[in-house]
Amino acid sequence: NYFNIASIPGDGIGPEVMNEGYKVLKAMENLHGGLSFKIEEFDWNCTRYIKTGTMMPDNGLDILKDYDSILFGAVGAPEVPDHISVWQLILPIRRAFQQYVNLRPIKLLKGIESPLRNKTEKDIDFIVIRENTEGEYSNSGGKLHENTPHETVIQNSVFTRFGTERIVKYAFQYAKQKGKSKLSVATKSNAMNYSMPFWDDIVREISRDYPNIPFHLYHIDALAAFFVLKPEEFEVVVGSNLFGDILTDLGAAVAGGIGIAPSGNINPEGDYPSMFEPIHGSAPDITGKGIANPIAQIWSVGLMLEHLGYSDLASVIMAAIEKAIEKGEALTPDLGGNGTTDAFGDAIVSEILKGV
Ligand code: NAI
Ligand code: MG
Repeated sequence: NYFNIASIPGDGIGPEVMNEGYKVLKAMENLHGGLSFKIEEFDWNCTRYIKTGTMMPDNGLDILKDYDSILFGAVGAPEVPDHISVWQLILPIRRAFQQYVNLRPIKLLKGIESPLRNKTEKDIDFIVIRENTEGEYSNSGGKLHENTPHETVIQNSVFTRFGTERIVKYAFQYAKQKGKSKLSVATKSNAMNYSMPFWDDIVREISRDYPNIPFHLYHIDALAAFFVLKPEEFEVVVGSNLFGDILTDLGAAVAGGIGIAPSGNINPEGDYPSMFEPIHGSAPDITGKGIANPIAQIWSVGLMLEHLGYSDLASVIMAAIEKAIEKGEALTPDLGGNGTTDAFGDAIVSEILKGV
């Protein structure tokens, strides 16, 4: 019951919301005798990049690999190009540690208003499972005939049998384990005539091992529309890297906004640590004002606890978040209040300690 956690708060509001995550971990220790988290903090961020020229030390991945889990805040600073902060820190971690599952709950919390005015928390409660290592984001392609009227760029997608099978299998297994009734699959096999028919075939193959989980293939364009028109259709949704990326941002919007949405980068085999982070960025526009919503970070802590085997504690966190929203005393401005990050975090912690 002793966990070593590596923490990378990052830039901007990253450290502000991470602080609230720490408070929640402390509260968990108080709630659950014998449970203990040792948090080691790493200053791998854009400030470090500006000083030293790198986002993390050369042996950064080697340092991280022995931790039980990684908590991440957000990176990005106006002075540093975004591709550097992403490609030199987040993506190397996801890829080196085979975090091939990106888990993103799309759940409208009690007391949060969805932009879909006629939908309630009963209607919006599902999870998107996004492939996190290959597919459309594969750094393969090139340029031809530059500076001519025939200038051409090629961006390849790479779908391996290994990579596709493991994400599809994870999705079916997830649905089965959580007692869900079906799996929804993003595809586009009518227009992408190599990658997506391959993806669909693998879905059909794997599905034979899950006779009780019917699946439905949706073209991505129609699927996006259904997220808005009938989110109540969905329980578990699986998609490729690009499709999953788009669906999860849409899902976050539908479920009440970016300050709330958490994510897990999961290495299911447990060979390497998994990483948990809010989906929002460093929010330079509100940095230093102390008004960032800490829910996304705190919910990410909940996902981490669930991954470490403490689903009961994750449920306590979710209930406490909803209670604090319901009371409404410390809501941050993005939720229509005038509370601070610190006060909202305290409100959630105080609900946790009541043992909700
Ligand atoms: P952003 O997510 O940082 O901000 C978008 C908008 O949402 C802003 O108006 C911001 O104030 C608001 N917002 C975000 N988180 C919030 C919270 N917890 N509470 C209240 N409001 C919140 O996205 P943006 O502005 O496109 O990017 C800013 C920087 O963050 C860039 O450098 C970008 O590369 C980086 N970024 C990093 C990510 C990561 O670390 N995983 C993910 C997305 C962006
Ligand atoms: Mg995205």
